[in-house]
Amino acid sequence: MAIGLDDVVAAETALSDVDGLAGRLTIRGRSLDQLAGRTSAEDILALLFGDLFDAEPTPAALGTARAEIFFRFARAVPDLRDLPVYDAVRALVARLPDDTSLETALLLVAAPAVLVPALLRQRDGLEPIAPDPRLGHAADVLRMMGRAADRAEAAGLDTYLVTVADHGLNASTFAARVVASTQAGLTSSVLAAYGALKGPLHGGAPGPVLDMLDAVGSPDRAEPVLRDMLDRGERLMGFGHRIYRVRDPRADALKGALGKLPPSPRTELALATEAVALTLLRQKKPDRPLETNVEFFTALLLDALGFPREAFTSVFAVGRMAGWIAHAREQALSGRLIRPKSRYVGPLPRAAA
Ligand code: ACO
Repeated sequence: MAIGLDDVVAAETALSDVDGLAGRLTIRGRSLDQLAGRTSAEDILALLFGDLFDAEPTPAALGTARAEIFFRFARAVPDLRDLPVYDAVRALVARLPDDTSLETALLLVAAPAVLVPALLRQRDGLEPIAPDPRLGHAADVLRMMGRAADRAEAAGLDTYLVTVADHGLNASTFAARVVASTQAGLTSSVLAAYGALKGPLHGGAPGPVLDMLDAVGSPDRAEPVLRDMLDRGERLMGFGHRIYRVRDPRADALKGALGKLPPSPRTELALATEAVALTLLRQKKPDRPLETNVEFFTALLLDALGFPREAFTSVFAVGRMAGWIAHAREQALSGRLIRPKSRYVGPLPRAAA
């Protein structure tokens, strides 16, 4: 029996496939290597939604949804100033209609994209910036952050959103499918998925990657600091993966996006640290392929695009929302309730005397 469901096939999907041995992520028949850097957040949304709804999610409809979210929630943002960004996003998303329409799906995709910048600006004592529905999704998010973002930055965020849009049956996606299998609405399904991101075991490493780089401080200290960490039995943040054994294609995609932004001292420190980490891991664990994972370059790219580390989990949801909704829809359309069994290991009732 597989406690934790390792290797159990719990769904059939035409959405994405994670091939750990080949180091390949396939999304609806296209590899991430083909998609990242060449497609936008809107493209990946259209690809994932496919024929799961009765109309296409056009860029104009997504822009309208961003404006609608701002209109509904801009006045509620100041009331949530004492909550962490993650919790405030969850509270506001819960107020959306809970049905299975494309309109609701687009409001859900737009919600974290609009709310994360508004909440961050509110935290800094600044007025939220209204979206511009005519802009591309990624460019508009950066604009709402108050960034005079150039084309390279918007392309960098597009690459991030495409790269994290879907990834097989991970914990949050499975949570979305379980709820959708009861024929609940999309908002209930994605809130379950969003809840699964809260724990540090799923999507929780980008913040610690930056903490590790802070501890390294400068490229010349990478060798002694990382060697000490390994000698103490600690793990290097942003390295290794449960499924990917040869490479994490998402790390390559994000590294490519980072390379198109102007170099910064932190990027230089990170690249030097990565090189030292890979060398040390090969020496210390020669039998175990431990490569750079998605979290390492997520941390650097989001940091370079101006997102603070406490918002990383919610920014991840800006991208993954597309996958959660597509999986929820696919599961609901299959009509099959997910209802596994448990094995009882408690005491048996005492026999009557
Ligand atoms: N640094 C140092 N040693 C490591 C690392 C690491 N990052 N990752 C694995 N190892 C070592 C383990 O200590 C273990 O050594 P041992 O056999 O001598 O005890 C060996 O490699 C295998 O470890 P496992 O736990 O079996 O590796 P697994 O593949 O199950 O773990 C995991 C994957 C949890 C991601 C791990 O590599 C890790 O903790 N990495 C650091 C945290 C991190 O980057 N998390 C984000 C992952 S990406 C994502 O979640 C989307």
